[in-house]
Amino acid sequence: MIILGVESSCDDTAAAVLKGDVVASNIISSQLAHREFGGVVPELASREHDRRVVSVVQRALEEANIKKSDLDLVAATAGPGLIGATLVGLNFAQAFAYALCKPFVPINHIEAHIFSTFIEPPFPSFPFVSLTVSGGHTMLAIVQDDLSYKVIGRTIDDAAGEAFDKTGKMLGLPYPAGPVIDKLARQGDPNFHKFPQALTKGYEENFDFSFSGLKTSVQTYLASQSPEFIETHRADLCASIQDAITSVLVLKTMRAAAKFGVRTISVAGGVSANSELRRKFEQACAEKGFSLHVPKPIYSTDNAAMIASLAKLKAERGRLDSPLRYDHSAFASFQA
Ligand code: KG4
Ligand code: ZN
Repeated sequence: MIILGVESSCDDTAAAVLKGDVVASNIISSQLAHREFGGVVPELASREHDRRVVSVVQRALEEANIKKSDLDLVAATAGPGLIGATLVGLNFAQAFAYALCKPFVPINHIEAHIFSTFIEPPFPSFPFVSLTVSGGHTMLAIVQDDLSYKVIGRTIDDAAGEAFDKTGKMLGLPYPAGPVIDKLARQGDPNFHKFPQALTKGYEENFDFSFSGLKTSVQTYLASQSPEFIETHRADLCASIQDAITSVLVLKTMRAAAKFGVRTISVAGGVSANSELRRKFEQACAEKGFSLHVPKPIYSTDNAAMIASLAKLKAERGRLDSPLRYDHSAFASFQA
């Protein structure tokens, strides 16, 4: 089966082709136009997607060495995401499928992250605990073989990625600050300052997350220090902030696995690219003898291979809930 995936829910215009189990192409065009604004500007994102989507899809087909007519299925992110941005990729992909008379499958972006550990083997075995940590979402779920999942916890305020990006901004780092903090933290001391880890002590049975207190704490701490002190200790502060965020994520995920008797853990979404988060999970899972699955960093952040891959998983299980199948017979008779 050959599937084209399209993703445009935020600031990456992406298209990928899946040939059977193999990612034959994975094109990601990241929009740098937002940098000067310190965050994603929705209208700018829509216009950038509009400018890029045709060439990105074209490159994905070329790199996969296939013709449009070789496609069996077209899939695109249908939400959640920035509405205008999502609509560009979604409408393009639907029109593309319509013109080719191919079935079209709408894909939920968060679900695509959850199942991104199935893009490349070794795949997690079911049931597994899934931690999805991105710029907009932080979610813990128990996932079953039929691709159904039960959400057991989510953030009650900021997402983990937002916590990285917003505290990074306070430190004067460019957007998105997550990868920059990851890099700077390697030279820093994670015990330099203990930032709060919310909903942990006394919340053993609670799998929700909260990062707004951390944000306030970082802001208050920085306000009490001189610019020279912050400059000198930027790496230590990055390491301390990163430690607070990643410790909570690992602690709650491991607690969930223990409570629900599940020994397989999958971590996905942009923040799963974080090297300290990976290290902490590797250590915790090795100690417990759990099996850990984290996608390659290129599949952690937004990409279209995960969109095509989830469409494939659904197709294999006969779970393409009413894919749109375009019938051109009416059009043909109109032409005649
Ligand atoms: O999944 P994603 O690409 O987009 C959304 O669906 O939101 O996630 C983007 C988020 C941003 O907040 C970014 O700072 C964060 O993932 N991120 C990281 C790293 N790489 C990306 N956070 C920490 N460490 C990283 N290495
Ligand atoms: Zn995402």
